[in-house]
Parts: sequence; C-alpha cells; structure tokens
Amino acid sequence: MSQQSTSHSTHDSEEDLRNRDIKIFLNGKIVPRSEALVSVYDSGFMLGDGMWEGMRLYDGEWAFFDAHMDRLFNSCKAVSLDIGMSKGEIHAALNATAAANDMTTDAHCRLMITRGPKAKPFQHPQLSRSGPTVVAVLEHSRPLESLQQRGIRLATVPQVRGLPMSQDAKYNSHSKLNCVIACLQAEQAGADEALMLDPQGFVNTTNACNFFIVRRGEVWTSTGDYCMNGVTRQNVIDLCLANDIPVREKNYSLYEAIGADEAFLTGTFGAQTPVAEIDGKPIGDHEGAGPMTRRIRELYKNLVAQNVALQRAMRR
Ligand SMILES: Cc1ncc(COP(=O)(O)O)c(C=O)c1O
Repeated sequence: MSQQSTSHSTHDSEEDLRNRDIKIFLNGKIVPRSEALVSVYDSGFMLGDGMWEGMRLYDGEWAFFDAHMDRLFNSCKAVSLDIGMSKGEIHAALNATAAANDMTTDAHCRLMITRGPKAKPFQHPQLSRSGPTVVAVLEHSRPLESLQQRGIRLATVPQVRGLPMSQDAKYNSHSKLNCVIACLQAEQAGADEALMLDPQGFVNTTNACNFFIVRRGEVWTSTGDYCMNGVTRQNVIDLCLANDIPVREKNYSLYEAIGADEAFLTGTFGAQTPVAEIDGKPIGDHEGAGPMTRRIRELYKNLVAQNVALQRAMRR
C-alpha cells in the first residue's frame, strides 16, 4: 500500500457526499458552492493575507463562539484588518448559512476574512481598497472515530514555530506555509503529522493542533509562547484545573515527551486525539487513547454540552 493511502490526519472525517452541494456564505450572500468564487487578485489568494477560525456546530450552537471571536477580532485588529461585521452579524451569518444547508450538528465552519481584492498584484496592504472578503464554508463533518483507537503518528521535524517577532504563532493566518512545510517533512518521515519544537528546542505544538503529554498523573503542555492560543487547549487546561487534575504549562524536551505515559492533540475539529507514536516510538503501553486522555475527552464533551446549553439559554 502506498504511504499516502495509509496516512491520517487529525482532520480526517467520514466522507459525506452532501458536501458537494453545500451553500457558502460569501460577502453577505449565501451561494451554491460552484458559485462561491473569489478574485485571483484577492489578498488571501495572492499573499495569504487573512485570518480564519474553525468552529463546530453542536445542536444548533457554535461551541465556544465568544472565544473564537475574541481570537479572530484580536488578530484582525493587530494586523489592521477591518472585518466590517460585528460579532453578532457574524453569528447571524453563520446561522443563516447553517439553516440554508439544513445543518444543526456535526458541522464544521471555516470562517475566512481576507484584506480583500487588490488593485494591483503587489504586496502593499493599501492596494486592498474595496473592503474585506468574508467567506464561511460550512461542511457536514464527523471526525473519524477510528482515530481514537489508532492514534496519530507524529514525527519531529526541523521546521519550528518561531518567535513572535517573525510571524507570531498566535495568528491563525491564511498563510500556513510554516505548518505546511512541517507537515510535508513529517510525511516524508513516514508519519501522519509533525511535532514541532520551539526556537530553544523544547516540545511545542503540531502543525495543526496543540500538543499535551501525561506523565505520572500530571498533564503537561508547552508554555504557550510559540504555539496557537488554541480554544481547545485553554478549555483542557481549565477542565484540569476544575477537576483536580494537575496541569502544567512548562518547557519540556523530547526526552519527557517520548517517555510520557500518554500524549494527545487538541483542536476544535477533533477535540482530543490520541498520539500513538513519536518518531516511530510508541507512547505509553495502551491501545488507543489512554485513561487520562479518555477522562479529559469525556469532561470536554460535557463542557461542550454546557456551553451549548448556556448559549441557547442566553438567546431566549
Ligand atoms: C497551528 C494550530 N494549532 C492549534 C490549533 C487548534 O486551535 P483550536 O483549539 O482553537 O481549534 C489550530 C487551529 O486553528 C492551529 O491551526
């Protein structure tokens, strides 16, 4: 079997043919997928100049909507990108698009805001003169359950998530070349995804998710200085604190990661995904998710349900 056909990613989902005919939000209109087109002059296409958020719909509510909006608006403000819509207007647009697609749960949204079309094919932000491009792609999406059993295989790669003064890892920018290069390096090493270090060589993040280990009953993750300020990452830390699970944001090396009892990834799409191996070395001695990963996954499921119920109650 080719390497491609056996490789997995944390964003693997069940094939859903309905996604061929979805409707997409594009600059205030909801249009069929075949008509959801942006200009080749768009800043996002030309330069990767834009920000995005990934969100999931559970029982008609966008889980942790406020946290996603805080990150998005903070990022856009920092790069002088005027979204041109309020958080409430974005919420209404996503709900209208979900309704147009008959989606209430098991749906994933990629909301994308770029600096919009440019007057000329060059870099200067002032060439984007006609306002942002706002797109929301909502797909029917169920993460692959088999990944919980199989786990993700990681390879450490030379590509790092760098210092804030190069491109701050906290920007969920359209340009993901840094992460794409890391992912390619991991694939070339025969793994599913990349485990990226920080500029000092401490274990940091994967190319698409935040990374946690479990050692002797404690949950560890990186300091957060060089990785995405993941909404799921913060939720997991908060859940540990609320449930008397020792949790530490600290520097640690591959020595500790490879010797961990469990490792898992966090992200909006897959929630918590177990790590099976790092550089060909199995993590822990359990099949699939370990006991702490399973416990946190259960706590997270309940947290999503609480958040969804709270949002529904607040809108009544
Ligand atoms: C590099 C990277 N790390 C982590 C995450 C996970 O973030 P969240 O938990 O907010 O989905 C993402 C998702 O956007 C990401 O791109």
